[in-house]
Amino acid sequence: MQVTFNANYFPTEGAIVVPIFEGNDFTAPANQINEKTGGAISRAVEHSSFTGKSGDLLDIYAPTGLNLSRIILIGLGKKEDATEKSISEIGTKLATKISYGPESSITVLFNNINLDNMKNHELAVHFSVGALLRSYRFNKYKTQLKEAQKKKINEFMVVVDQPQAADEFFHRYSSIVEGVFFARNLMCEPPNVLHPKRMAKELAELSSLGVKVDIINEKDMEKLGMNAILAVGKGSECESQLVVMQWNGGADHEAPLAFVGKGVTFDTGGISLKPPPKMDEMKYDMGGAAAVAGLMKSLAGRKAKVNVVGVVGLVENMPDAAAYRPGDIIKTLSGQTIEVLNTDAEGRVVLADALWYTQSKFSPKFMIDLATLTGSMVVALGNKYAGMFSNDESLVHKLFQSGQETGEHVWQMPMDDRYDKDIDSKIADVKNTGANGAGSITAAHFLKRFTNNVPWAHLDIAGTAWTDEPNPYSGTLPTGFGVRLLDHFIHKYYEK
Ligand code: BES
Ligand code: MN
Ligand code: ZN
Repeated sequence: MQVTFNANYFPTEGAIVVPIFEGNDFTAPANQINEKTGGAISRAVEHSSFTGKSGDLLDIYAPTGLNLSRIILIGLGKKEDATEKSISEIGTKLATKISYGPESSITVLFNNINLDNMKNHELAVHFSVGALLRSYRFNKYKTQLKEAQKKKINEFMVVVDQPQAADEFFHRYSSIVEGVFFARNLMCEPPNVLHPKRMAKELAELSSLGVKVDIINEKDMEKLGMNAILAVGKGSECESQLVVMQWNGGADHEAPLAFVGKGVTFDTGGISLKPPPKMDEMKYDMGGAAAVAGLMKSLAGRKAKVNVVGVVGLVENMPDAAAYRPGDIIKTLSGQTIEVLNTDAEGRVVLADALWYTQSKFSPKFMIDLATLTGSMVVALGNKYAGMFSNDESLVHKLFQSGQETGEHVWQMPMDDRYDKDIDSKIADVKNTGANGAGSITAAHFLKRFTNNVPWAHLDIAGTAWTDEPNPYSGTLPTGFGVRLLDHFIHKYYEK
């Protein structure tokens, strides 16, 4: 879908979208179209339940006086209530409505609409971004699609007061959308296609945007002593990879911000094999790594003025004669030893080496890791919030705020020495599962032991990376959770 901002434009085909404020308070375009159609809008709202509430939608087909397929009325809510999130979410609702409609061209009239705390071009951009995000489809492997099902909105025209201001403001967001789509594309790929090496190859493509990409293969890992990552990948035919992505848009000697992702391209559980139901969903177990890669793409695409490093550990967790076992003891890069009690608690084992490597190699300002780490996280928070665990209150505040503002919500979970004790091993330094419940918290404590006390936050995105319940921005496809959250977080708090 191509978004274009225009002034003084009126369409000759397709559908026209006309915004109305709550209480059926007509906007300037609503008045204009109402007049052109001999009062079609007034009559339609009078005979329907449409009130202009945020996200309300109403079709008026084949209106007299206009040579267009339909007028779509859309509720903008109250003038004083508009936020980036609320307006984007109205855009997502329009996208759902038009995706299977007959039109290939849509024109949204935002000219002469003024909100209390959002400029005209900001309104137009936030709305369009919501529509774009929701318009994402992954049809690559559908070979029998009928023409009608393939139909896409080709033209998404937005009429605004100042197209140039809209274009400039849109620039950052279109880069974020690219990043989100990159993450979603990676997640949608099946695990027989997207194994660790293939994923590393896809990430290496970011170099065309100016990202420095280094791939550490198994041989290098052996030399470095990354036995934790190596252990998890031992049962797989595919070679494990640690991919390091650097975007240096900031000052030369400024310490980077670091983002670390769990990239298990498929998680069978290993020798502690998972039960069959929904095991296919474990192709998304690289959602943390995909989000980190999507973030790098977004930052590079918009030439963010900040230094950032993204590190992702890519492995496949398989049962095999060579696989690591319950009972094994692994010496990690940090020197600490892990007693493996359950090979299905593999994400934390991968991150142990990835986190330690990141802090020792880059001395970052802070580290934030993203991981589809625990099923318990889904039990605790469902798909509405990701769990946030941290040793730094300032990071907690900034991430929470960014979540509220983007709709990628994060909620702080407790950390406490009593939980930490639960992962002390009798025979090694730490064991990879606790025994007293609170599975997401003990997993976070496990990670904390590999942070070397640098400021750190862990986002457990097991419930938010993909959802069965439709998400406003992505429906039931992978969300790309983390890309918008973290781009916002960086832009708001760390870019000059
Ligand atoms: N990838 C899973 C966690 C997961 C489960 C993510 C469901 C998304 C949806 C992770 O590797 C895992 O298997 N965790 C185990 C840990 C347990 C063995 C301590 C879990 O949560 O059951
Ligand atoms: Mn697992
Ligand atoms: Zn996993």
